[in-house]
Amino acid sequence: SRAMNAAAEQSPFVEQVKVKERGRETRKRTVKDFFFGRTLGEGSYSTVVEATEVETEKIYAAKILDKRHIIKEKKTKYVTIERNVLHKLRHPFIVRLHYAFQDKQSLYFILDLAANGELLSWVRKYGGLSEPVAKHYMAELILAVEYMHQNGVVHRDLKPENILLGSDMHILIADFGTAKLLGENDGSRTNSFVGTAEYVSPELLMDRQEANIRGSDIWALGCIAYQLLAGRPPFKATNEYQTFQKILKNEYEFPPHFSVHAKDFIRRILVLDPNYRLGCCFFKDSDPDTIPNFDDLKSHPFFTGIDWSNLSNSNPPQMS
Ligand code: ADE
Repeated sequence: SRAMNAAAEQSPFVEQVKVKERGRETRKRTVKDFFFGRTLGEGSYSTVVEATEVETEKIYAAKILDKRHIIKEKKTKYVTIERNVLHKLRHPFIVRLHYAFQDKQSLYFILDLAANGELLSWVRKYGGLSEPVAKHYMAELILAVEYMHQNGVVHRDLKPENILLGSDMHILIADFGTAKLLGENDGSRTNSFVGTAEYVSPELLMDRQEANIRGSDIWALGCIAYQLLAGRPPFKATNEYQTFQKILKNEYEFPPHFSVHAKDFIRRILVLDPNYRLGCCFFKDSDPDTIPNFDDLKSHPFFTGIDWSNLSNSNPPQMS
């Protein structure tokens, strides 16, 4: 029975076999290939530690997940999504998954190290960022989210805790455990059928909810822009219920130092009806290939002076 338990524990996590990549044989990594160092962060289902690849001395961040805990808490689906999404995405502003492997007890994701921690810490340290700095980081974030959406990935949990900073102070978006791969039925409720087959409307079959979740990533961008400048999120109350009430009433105020363009940019995103939100297309919800028009965001006067084609090579402005 112990053997059966062990088999049941391992079965949800499919071991991927490394094959030839661009004609070169890449060896499957194991725990033995790394030296694990100090802890960088701890979540409910994972611990992130510094990991040095013995052979190359390259330093990574290893996200280590306990299989038994994940199975017990029924989170295997999210772990699989995170692995598949990270594997698919290759962008300078998104944490890259270099290797994924497992042993009897744990899963290991070997990721880009974000040496400068969470953007949230920097926002807290300075009590909000200057407008040129906030503008730069919003621009990086928009490029990363545009790339994700173009590749069928909606993050669904964008916030300054999940925006990390590399050694070069460019952003690295992390934590795709709650992401959704569009167009792939992962068995979650947005895709499953509610109602009675014979009477369902065509627009429900075309999965309107799925299209709408793209708009919620855009809403998050508005909240983040506000927070970078104000030092605190726009909708914050003593508990979740009160916060939800504020969101539903669109109840927030700008501090006096926000510029006209910053206020206009945020106001145009924090629109309750997603159809009227900046970049979110009207009447195209039923089309699963419709992604927000990120050019509408990029061309807003808030971003005057941003060189969109050269952001990842530019030096981010110094925080103060
Ligand atoms: N915490 C979570 N992911 C991380 C990463 N990739 N680098 C540094 N700290 C992290």
